[in-house]
Amino acid sequence: MKKIPVGILGATGVVGQRFIQMLEHHPWFEVAWLAASDRSEGEAYAEAAKWRLKTPVPRGVASMQVAPATPDRAPKVIFAALDASIAAELEPRFADAGCAVVSNSSALRMKEDVPLVIPEVNGGHIKLIDVQGWRKKNGGYVVTNPNCSAIGLVLALAPLHQRFGLETVMAVTMQAVSGAGYPGVASLDILGNVIPFIKNEEEKMEEETKKLLGQLNGSKVIPGDFAMSAQCNRVAVEDGHTESVSIRLKKKAKAGEIIDAWNAYRAEPQALKLPSAPERPIVYLEANDRPQPRFDVDMGAGMTTAVGRLRACGVLDWKFTVLSHNTIRGAAGAALLNAELLKAKGYLG
Ligand SMILES: NC(=O)c1ccc[n+]([C@@H]2O[C@H](COP(=O)([O-])OP(=O)(O)OC[C@H]3O[C@@H](n4cnc5c(N)ncnc54)[C@H](OP(=O)(O)O)[C@@H]3O)[C@@H](O)[C@H]2O)c1
Repeated sequence: MKKIPVGILGATGVVGQRFIQMLEHHPWFEVAWLAASDRSEGEAYAEAAKWRLKTPVPRGVASMQVAPATPDRAPKVIFAALDASIAAELEPRFADAGCAVVSNSSALRMKEDVPLVIPEVNGGHIKLIDVQGWRKKNGGYVVTNPNCSAIGLVLALAPLHQRFGLETVMAVTMQAVSGAGYPGVASLDILGNVIPFIKNEEEKMEEETKKLLGQLNGSKVIPGDFAMSAQCNRVAVEDGHTESVSIRLKKKAKAGEIIDAWNAYRAEPQALKLPSAPERPIVYLEANDRPQPRFDVDMGAGMTTAVGRLRACGVLDWKFTVLSHNTIRGAAGAALLNAELLKAKGYLG
């Protein structure tokens, strides 16, 4: 099969680098175009990017020149890893030029006609593409994945919402420094420290969780009908967002039923055998001191959400711990899985 050429906007950043790593041996897509800010434009990729990953820069990409961030010579499939303020301007421009924009940024996630998708949870929401003005005009569109903390949380909540219904969700995050991009948080601010504030993160988690677990009704999503509160902290961990979660369910459930709902969970990406889909989207760890970022963040090549420590909650019904890789399942891997679902459903031409 001839591979589909793809471009990466924001290719030099933390998420851009993950895209390049994950696309290196991808069976369907190949990197054909890279763009970043005008600081990087015109340079060879290996010069422009401060590569932070443990595998080397793929050879074909290292010498590729960083292009201007305009759609003129870009391929028709674009992975976007831009800061929200820049994405708000550039993503519509690429969609308007007929590109399929598969975005990581928060800029357009909550727009009524933009699908916010985790393929294992609400793949059906990609139908919103059909009501987008860009799509009607020239085939272009924007699809987004959620915030890196919302993804792990929602993967853990989805099987419970389906079986028992959610009434209340409270989540407290401990988020890795790689979630702040590069160079991110200054070392003097984070070493030996916890920062109890990440701008707009709590709002994103609350509204995105409800959109993801909402129902598609024609041309819009009716948000999930449950109460939700998030508190977000930055901690001195390299990769992997950990979350302490408490829930109240509409229908009472036993611990064994909840654990079974997680371990048995499979969805469309597993049935379709999408290349980046983990065999198991959620795994419950029985040890009473897991999951931990150091040991569990790479489960399922970073695409599996690890859950542990299920126990009764004295205020709500149940509490547990969730761990998810923020730059893989929470960013580049999320967008890649979205693109694979789009291809499987005939949206990539
Ligand atoms: N890190 C995570 O775990 C994570 C998870 C989920 C979602 N996200 C989201 O993904 C996006 C990227 O995050 P990141 O962590 O990769 O950030 P980052 O490391 O700061 O990278 C930002 C990228 O945007 C480029 N850029 C900056 N200004 C630009 C402009 N005016 N025009 C074109 N490109 C420009 C940068 O290029 P230069 O190198 O040339 O400056 C760089 O490639 C953000 O919206 C973030 O919220 C991040």
